[in-house]
This record gives sequence, structure tokens and C-alpha cells, in this order.
Amino acid sequence: MQKLFINGKKELSGKISISGSKNASLAILAATILSSTSKLVNVPLVEDIFTMIKLLKFIGLKISIKKDKNEININNTNKKIKTLAPYNLVKTMRAGVLVLGPLLSKYKKAKISLPGGCAIGTRPVDLHLFALKKLGAKIKIKNGYIVADAKNGLKGANINFPKISVGATENALLAAFSAEGKTTINNCAIEPEIKDLVKFLNKLGGKIKIVKRKIFVNCAKSINRRISHKVILDRIELGTYLIAAALVGKKIIINKINPSFIKSEIQILKKMGVRISVKGETVIILKSDKIKKINVSTQPYPGFPTDLQAQLMVLMTRAKGQSKITEKIFENRFMHVPELKRMGANIEIINKTAIISGPTNLTGAEVMATDLRASVSLVLAGLVADNRTVINRIYHLDRGYELLEKKLKNCKARIKRV
Ligand code: EPZ
Repeated sequence: MQKLFINGKKELSGKISISGSKNASLAILAATILSSTSKLVNVPLVEDIFTMIKLLKFIGLKISIKKDKNEININNTNKKIKTLAPYNLVKTMRAGVLVLGPLLSKYKKAKISLPGGCAIGTRPVDLHLFALKKLGAKIKIKNGYIVADAKNGLKGANINFPKISVGATENALLAAFSAEGKTTINNCAIEPEIKDLVKFLNKLGGKIKIVKRKIFVNCAKSINRRISHKVILDRIELGTYLIAAALVGKKIIINKINPSFIKSEIQILKKMGVRISVKGETVIILKSDKIKKINVSTQPYPGFPTDLQAQLMVLMTRAKGQSKITEKIFENRFMHVPELKRMGANIEIINKTAIISGPTNLTGAEVMATDLRASVSLVLAGLVADNRTVINRIYHLDRGYELLEKKLKNCKARIKRV
């Protein structure tokens, strides 16, 4: 098993480039089931993407990757499509459940392994199934699989989500794409990744509009033959490097960003005293000495994202006084806390709130990654801690961060994979 070795306290300076969005790419890859020929560019070459490609190939799509160009070409003209997503491919990558909607929409049936839980929570899919039933699908759960069919095709409907869910919104969109008539999705998620999926579906022939937290879908009759799409940048990777810069940056420059994706993050970092400036598509972070305490709750977009909660907690260890971070999205997303405490962080958890007292000097230690975002918070802690930090189980990192060591080394970090 590979490990990461980090010698901390090295000031970072330089430019960091942000890769394409893992989560937008996963939803759009699922959507290529609806297309015949698609080219995706700016796709991050990370493990979850390769797992999704494996699943689409199993279903019967022809896929080629041009690694040097972060480009994926998908060809879906195969007549023998398997409308099945097997357990071994869904258990490690929950987003595999996103093939349910397009398979139902195009082939009127699907058998998808229930994704099961993961380190951060039970990860139910009841909202996904709720939406598909509204569109007329018959759904049974059998031997750990979702068995869905819509013999006479899906019919447009009014879907009122009781709770905001990114994945359920995506599955509802992908199913409603070719559902007869009109569909309205209320109380939907509006993350930038959802908007990028809508952009892709509209290129495909969809007539989809997002207005506040409502999505209006008109059935797509004609499907465009060949389309290409550039995936948006990864706002969580961007937020991660902004926090790294706030922790140990001297001067970090990140170009070609879309500041509207990270409004809440920039607001919070400025409130914490981070010297951050945005000019057009460039963000610059300068050495920030006095980090101020703050209280934050994770929220659906455009609130502060749960995927940056672990990373912000590391910055809070540098703040004077007590900071609080409340995790409102997932039920078990504090797995990084015991590891950060082993590095000297002073953190107490009361229900869903972590109370971080600072400033504390973190010390290097041997630690273990547990999930994607917890593992990157340990990298951030290693960068700011004294001595050496060794991070185990870094396959979690490889699921969602492209060229992490290279990007940090380019800014003079002392980090190596062994
Ligand atoms: C997506 O997960 C992202 N994953 C997650 O990123 C992200 O943390 C999450 O959205 C929230 O922003 C991908 O896009 C592949 P949800 P998803 O449905 O869709 C509950 C990362 O690190 N819920 O918005 O699974 C659920 O348990 C990953 O890149 C139901 O109750 O998240 C959670 O408490 C981690 N029933 C809440 O809703 C359902 O049917 C939000 O989950 C579905 C979800």
C-alpha cells in the first residue's frame, strides 16, 4: 500500500492549476448513455472516473481515453446493451447508481446494485427511487439490487423532493430527459455540477431550464448525433488548495477559475483573516499570519460545502480561540478528527458540531486516511505540522485528486509518495 511522506512547515509559493470536476464528470459520464457519440474534455483522470468508465464499458459503451489531453471519447452504438450495474463496480463508487436514470430513460429497464454505505454515512438512495417512481417506473429491491422497469416508457411528472439531494436530482434529470411530456423537479440541488450536467443534456437535445430550486424538463425528442463538452473546474479541489495556501502559503496564484463557484468559501476565508484577492479569473493568496476564529455550518450549494469541512477544520486549528463547524449534510463526516487530534489538534465533538480550540501547533505523525476529503485534510495538516507526517491508505486520495503531489511540489512542498 502506498504512503505519502510530508515534511511540514515549508512555505508554499507558485501557481496551482485546477483539474476538471470529478463530480460533474461522473454525472455527465452517466448521461453519455443517452447519447450516441460524445467527447468530454477536461476530465480529471482519477480513480472514480476509471471506475465509472469500467461500469459504462460493462454496460456496452465503447470508450477511449486520451490521457495526455484529459479527453474521453464515448461511442454508444452497440446494440447489445446490458442494463445492469453489478455490485463489484458500484460498491466502491456510489455514483454508479447514476446509470439508473439514463438506462431507464433510454432502455426502459435497469438492474443496479444498491450502493451501500461508506465511511461518511449510510448513503441511502430513497430519494432517487422516489423520483423514478413519480416518473412511472416500477421499482423492486431484490438481493441487494434495485430492479426497475418502465415497460411503456417514463411519463413526465411533478417531483417534489422533501430533501435536497445532488445525486437524486441528477438521477431524476437523467430519467426525465426522455420521459413523455413535461417534468418539474422542485426543491432540487443547484450545485455547479448539476448546471454542467444540464448544459450537457441540452447539447444532446434536451430542453431543460433551472429557475431557483426548480428544474423544468421537456421531453427530448431528437438526440444530437455527436456532441462535445468541456467539464467545469473542480471547485472542491480549488477550495482545498485555497485552504492549503491559507495554511502555509507565502504567495499562491490560481488562474482560470470561476469565482462564482466559491463565493461562500472566499467569504469565510476573508472573515478568518486570510489575505485572498480575486481579479477576474485569478485568485491570489498571500501569507496570512493572524487567522481568526469562525463558526460555520455545511449547507447545500450555494452554502459552505460539506466536501470542504475537513479541510477548513485544519485551518481552524490555526485560529485564535474557539471555532465551530457543524456538519449538516452527512451523519458521520468527522473521521479525520481522531487523526488530527493525534497530530496535536484540540478538537471536541458535541453531536454534529466540532469545536476547535486554537491556535495549536500540529506535530507530524503517522496517520490513516478514511475517505476522500478526510485524507486531503491530513495532507493539509502534514503541510503545516512540524517534522514528518506519514499518511497511509492514500488510495482514498487517488479517487478524487489529480496529480496532488506534483501540484504541491511545484509550489515547493516537501511531499513524496512511497
Ligand atoms: C454528492 O453526493 C457528491 N458526490 C458528494 O461528494 C457530496 O458530498 C454530496 O453530493 C453533497 O454535496 C458526487 O457527486 C459523486 P446527496 P450524493 O444526495 O449525491 C441524504 C465527494 O467527496 N440522501 O446530496 O450522494 C444523504 O444521506 C463526495 O466528492 C438521502 O437521505 O449526496 C445526505 O445526508 C462525497 N436519500 C444528504 O441527503 C437519498 O436518496 C445529501 O446527499 C440521497 C441522499
